[in-house]
Amino acid sequence: MHYFSMASGDRIPALGLGTWKSAPGAVAAAVIEAITAGYRHIDCAPIYANEPEVGQALAQILKTGAVAREELWITSKLWNNAHAPELVEPALRQTLADLQLDYLDLFLIHWPVIFAPGVLFAQQPEEYIPLAELPIIDTWKALEACKTKGLVRNIGVCNFSLAKLKALCDQATMLPTMNQIELHPYLQQSELLSFCRERTIQLTAYSPLGSGDRPEALKKQDEPTLLDNPVVGKVAAKHRISPAQTLLAWGLNRGAVVIPKSTNPVRIRQNLAAADLRLDDSDMASLAALDLGYRFVDGAFFCGKGSPYSLGSLWDTDAR
Ligand code: A2P
Repeated sequence: MHYFSMASGDRIPALGLGTWKSAPGAVAAAVIEAITAGYRHIDCAPIYANEPEVGQALAQILKTGAVAREELWITSKLWNNAHAPELVEPALRQTLADLQLDYLDLFLIHWPVIFAPGVLFAQQPEEYIPLAELPIIDTWKALEACKTKGLVRNIGVCNFSLAKLKALCDQATMLPTMNQIELHPYLQQSELLSFCRERTIQLTAYSPLGSGDRPEALKKQDEPTLLDNPVVGKVAAKHRISPAQTLLAWGLNRGAVVIPKSTNPVRIRQNLAAADLRLDDSDMASLAALDLGYRFVDGAFFCGKGSPYSLGSLWDTDAR
């Protein structure tokens, strides 16, 4: 396994197993398969509605002694309905109970979007709380307190634009050590990548394969497909690897952690092998030309009628 060094001094396994969209009935087998194959990093979240099954799998494999807790890197996230500072630690403790762990390696604010307490997915305007009413820094201080208590080893964010990340860095006592974002050749996020390099903030690439198994409701018409892209196919053929491995090697080569989701034993192993692959400069140049600034997970589901959030405010593109 390859690792990236975090600002905290911890080393994060460069390739992890994604669990978004893994059905509760399939995720436990996938986690056991992955750890048995050599994965040491599992990416979780309570909104994926499968943390109890992930926890059962972790307990089962830890009990065998095949791997020790300290060898594993477990990430989870704070859902949008628990941003109120007094709700942060209880939400984390629920995740820890579900995962059957006494600490997380990494705890992330899942979205810079807030729902009212108890609302799983806001549908009505009154079920949202605008960021101006509950500033991110207040939530962040509660994450800092969780770290001080030893409940989590690292804290960070997801889906933060460059502007939101800079603002948090300006206000935080403990700097975020991670921004988990959608990252693939159609959405290369080069400006954010440069800023994070300067500040030793690690990036994790979610949806590195384009998340083709998203629910239909989260898909747009005429989406470009990543795994079928001819340039990706050409690089893959040149190295006799799969398109998925090419996409993962591209992300790793740019210094990002990648967390491909799979519940298929063959693909779980195939994806892990990508950590040992290297692309050359001409491959990277061909893939660099694919940038479309295209988001598969654009957050439009938070921006319905009457929502205080818009795509412009979410990604801070209004002023551009
Ligand atoms: P499956 O779980 O059946 O393997 P992302 O990580 O971008 O969210 O993408 C996940 C999607 O990509 C799932 O549909 C997953 O299907 C599929 N997938 C995962 N690994 C591979 C692979 N090596 N080749 C092709 N598709 C893959």
